[in-house]
Amino acid sequence: MSGVKLVVGNWKMNGSSAQVRAFADLASRDWPGCEAALCVPHPLLAAAQAAFAATPLRWGAQDCSSEEEGAFTGDVSARLIREFGARYVIVGHSERRIGHDETDGQIVAKVQRALAVGLTPIVCVGEKAEERDGEQTAMVLRRQLLQLVRALGRDLPSIVVAYEPVWAIGSGDAAAPGMIDFTLGFIADTLAFHAGAAASGVRILYGGSVNRRNAAAILSRKLVAGVLVGGAALLPADFIEICKTAARCSNLETSEAA
Ligand code: PGA
Repeated sequence: MSGVKLVVGNWKMNGSSAQVRAFADLASRDWPGCEAALCVPHPLLAAAQAAFAATPLRWGAQDCSSEEEGAFTGDVSARLIREFGARYVIVGHSERRIGHDETDGQIVAKVQRALAVGLTPIVCVGEKAEERDGEQTAMVLRRQLLQLVRALGRDLPSIVVAYEPVWAIGSGDAAAPGMIDFTLGFIADTLAFHAGAAASGVRILYGGSVNRRNAAAILSRKLVAGVLVGGAALLPADFIEICKTAARCSNLETSEAA
């Protein structure tokens, strides 16, 4: 897959308005020319909108409700997220699948809510360590993708898929490039088998312990359309270094394709 690589930071339950401003300063001074977004906690969306609107940085949220609106205390609707200028929303992160018992059905409903208001959902899929060890990776990924593909039909190219093996998240050990190739290939084939040509428009990211040292090895793989970055996205210098790497890898592919 060629094109501009996408770098998405997932701040999880971290960050502050001061940190938002620090990223905005850096993005206005020293921008490498790749597509990048920070997915911040909901209360920081207003600060992100104020600080990033004049920079190339985009912003988003880390979850949205599967409902449109109503009596759902503590939940946040996709419409409200969009109202703060967000472009992206992460859906189905393993910390929500596991920590909040989110089902594939709920994740599909969230994706549909996000699409209905013009947000781009970044749908996370990936296997746990015991599933990898039990050679169930393909089965798990197929299960996580199938309902989605069936429900979305022609809307499929409007989503981004992020392959995030649960064992790699926050571990300091990213999946090896060969394994990333294999798994992203499997995801692309599964989407193509069930959705045909629509599948070729889906960007597939890798996430799990991406940092400034391993970013080049990961982003230079052809199938990797970008990365979803947790810990390293909290440090402006590291995040920008990963973005610079992404820009170099995008240029490389563009010149190869010419
Ligand atoms: P990590 O997190 O980069 O800290 O491993 C990635 C994620 O959970 O999205």
